[in-house]
Amino acid sequence: MSQGRCNTAILVSGSGTNLQAFIDRSQAGAISLDIGLVFSNRGNAFGLQRAKHSGLETACLEHTSFPDRESFDRAVAKLIDRREAQLLVLAGYMRILSPWFVQHFEGRILNIHPALLPAYPGLHTHERVLEAGETQHGSTVHFVNEALDAGPRVLQGRLTVDPNETAAELAERVQAIEHQIYPQAADWFATGRLRSRDGMAYLDGKPLHEPVIVDFPDRAG
Ligand code: GRF
Repeated sequence: MSQGRCNTAILVSGSGTNLQAFIDRSQAGAISLDIGLVFSNRGNAFGLQRAKHSGLETACLEHTSFPDRESFDRAVAKLIDRREAQLLVLAGYMRILSPWFVQHFEGRILNIHPALLPAYPGLHTHERVLEAGETQHGSTVHFVNEALDAGPRVLQGRLTVDPNETAAELAERVQAIEHQIYPQAADWFATGRLRSRDGMAYLDGKPLHEPVIVDFPDRAG
């Protein structure tokens, strides 16, 4: 790790477009973190290929070969601790974390969820947003606690929903926002500006009772 840069482990289960955004920004020196490990619970995750292509260290453990959630999580934690990662970035990591894992890395795990939390936790957010006729949607970076999609919120990217767009089009727009806000929030952590304590996120020492919200331009055309 270069001096002063935050050693980060990124956990993926799938395509890894968010991982790619971190790789690009880290290599360009635009964010103060180094990716010390890319971990996946799926051997065929395309994110692992992206990492290898960029010369990053990778590791994979299939959760199916462990008897229960915690024993798997303990093995994953061992891999991460061996690299002395200071920050964990969940980037499409499709595993519910055991309480043990969350406590072990308390205040050091970030996640991104494709909705304006606390609205629409869980899966299929774009479809549900369109079905409900919502006018706004987006994505949320938050610290991870033991409850699903419910940890202290940090940063939201927000857009106006076009009622004529499909769920796939909406997903694409939300992902483009994620690729900007996620590295940004992680950089706040890497530079010591962002912390989590007693169930609250703090930015520059001030409690974030509401997340920072960035509005993105309307859909063209
Ligand atoms: C993202 O949309 C993120 O919000 C969710 O999982 C997706 C991961 O996509 N947690 P990718 O693998 O980074 O392309």
